[in-house]
Amino acid sequence: MSLTTYYTATSLDGFIADEHHSLEWLLRQDQDEAGPLNYDEFFARIGALVMGSATYEWVVRHENGTWPFQLPAWVMTSRDLPQVDGDVRFARGDVRAVHDEMTAAAGDKNLWIVGGGDLAGQFADTGLLDEIITYVAPVTLGRGAPLLPRRLDLRLEELAQNKAFACARYSVGPPRGSH
Ligand SMILES: NC(=O)c1ccc[n+]([C@@H]2O[C@H](COP(=O)([O-])OP(=O)(O)OC[C@H]3O[C@@H](n4cnc5c(N)ncnc54)[C@H](OP(=O)(O)O)[C@@H]3O)[C@@H](O)[C@H]2O)c1
Repeated sequence: MSLTTYYTATSLDGFIADEHHSLEWLLRQDQDEAGPLNYDEFFARIGALVMGSATYEWVVRHENGTWPFQLPAWVMTSRDLPQVDGDVRFARGDVRAVHDEMTAAAGDKNLWIVGGGDLAGQFADTGLLDEIITYVAPVTLGRGAPLLPRRLDLRLEELAQNKAFACARYSVGPPRGSH
């Protein structure tokens, strides 16, 4: 059974990008790429990923029009976005159908929700978000794109420091109203 994980970095006050969709505040932080809860080990267990259109546009801009992922990727959008050269499938609406397709594509590997926060929330709303891994950067931003704009009960499973970052892994309880 695949795990569905929202793996992301955040400011201390709960934003994953500033109000201009900039990640400058994040990319300048010091981290040990082999340290706790690191991206490479996480990514090695991933078989499919999903992101919203703002994240997609940021990635394509950041990579100068190329696509960095070799895995099947879904991009949620209600618009007709330009296709990049890579395995990218555009989808819209209910995330349950996308989750089914991702699970089939991932085989025995896990699913990564890249962001943004509301998209992770859509998976949580339908009981399909299993865990959250966050790298908390030592900055506050005041405003920006929210980490996860929902009320959820979480359980802290793992906690560590990676140089500038506080790193935490949480499991997600059942959606509210289901117990
Ligand atoms: N700190 C980090 O590690 C990290 C990680 C990921 C992302 N980011 C950044 O955080 C920001 C996130 O932006 P964001 O909060 O706007 O979130 P986003 O999820 O990237 O984009 C949101 C957009 O996706 C589309 N969408 C989402 N769900 C949909 C659905 N079910 N059906 C159809 N369309 C759907 C909608 O746009 P349209 O329908 O208009 O296309 C929506 O406005 C970006 O700047 C990104 O680069 C940071």
